[in-house]
Amino acid sequence: MIDVIILAIWLMLPAYIANPAAALLGGGKPIDLGKNFSDNKRILGDGKTIRGFVLGSLCGAIVGLLQIWLAPYIAPYLAAYVSGDMLMHASYIALFTMPVGALLGDMVKSFFKRRLGFERGAMMPVADQLDFVAGAWALTLLLDWSWFFANFTLWIVVTVVIITPILHLATNIIGFKIGKKDVPW
Ligand code: CTP
Ligand code: MG
Repeated sequence: MIDVIILAIWLMLPAYIANPAAALLGGGKPIDLGKNFSDNKRILGDGKTIRGFVLGSLCGAIVGLLQIWLAPYIAPYLAAYVSGDMLMHASYIALFTMPVGALLGDMVKSFFKRRLGFERGAMMPVADQLDFVAGAWALTLLLDWSWFFANFTLWIVVTVVIITPILHLATNIIGFKIGKKDVPW
C-alpha cells in the first residue's frame, strides 16, 4: 500500500504545492478585481488573488520540473517501493496543467461558495479538500490525456481521493499555526 501512496504523492506533487504556495505568496489584487456578481455578492472574493494564482502555479510547475530532472537521482532511494520507470513517466504539459488546473479548480469552488452564501474562508467540507484535485485532473485530461491514463490507475485515483483531505488538513493546520492562514482548514 505504501508504494501506491508514494506514487500518488509523487504524481500529485505539482498540484499539491500550488495551494500552499498561493497561500504563502498570494495577496494584492483579487482576480475578480473586487467586483460583485449579479447576486450582489463577490464573484470570487478576496481569497483568490492574481499573485497567488500566478506564483502558486509557477511554484507547482518548478517542482514538476525538479521532479523530472531529479527523478534519476531520487529513484534509487524509492526503489523498494516504486520502479524508477514510474517516477520518470514525466510530462512537460502535465507539470503545467496540474498546478494551473489545481488553482483554477480552487477558483471555480470559490465562485460556487460565494453563490451559496459562504463567506471568504468559510469551511465547505469535501469541496475545500478536493476542488484542486478535480481541477488538476480536469485540465490534465483536457490537455494531456495520454499521460493521465498512463499514470492514474484506478488505485492511484482512489488513493489520491483518500489521502488528499488528510494532507490538506495537515498543511492547513501548519499554515494556521505559523499565522499564514486565518482558519485551520
Ligand atoms: N490565495 C491567493 N490566491 C489564490 C488562492 C489562494 O492569494 N488564487 C491565498 C489567499 O490568501 C487565501 C489563501 O491563499 O486566503 C488560502 O486559500 P483558500 O483556502 O483557497 O481561500 P479562502 O480564503 O478559504 O477563500 P474561499 O472561501 O474562497 O475558498
Ligand atoms: Mg479556504
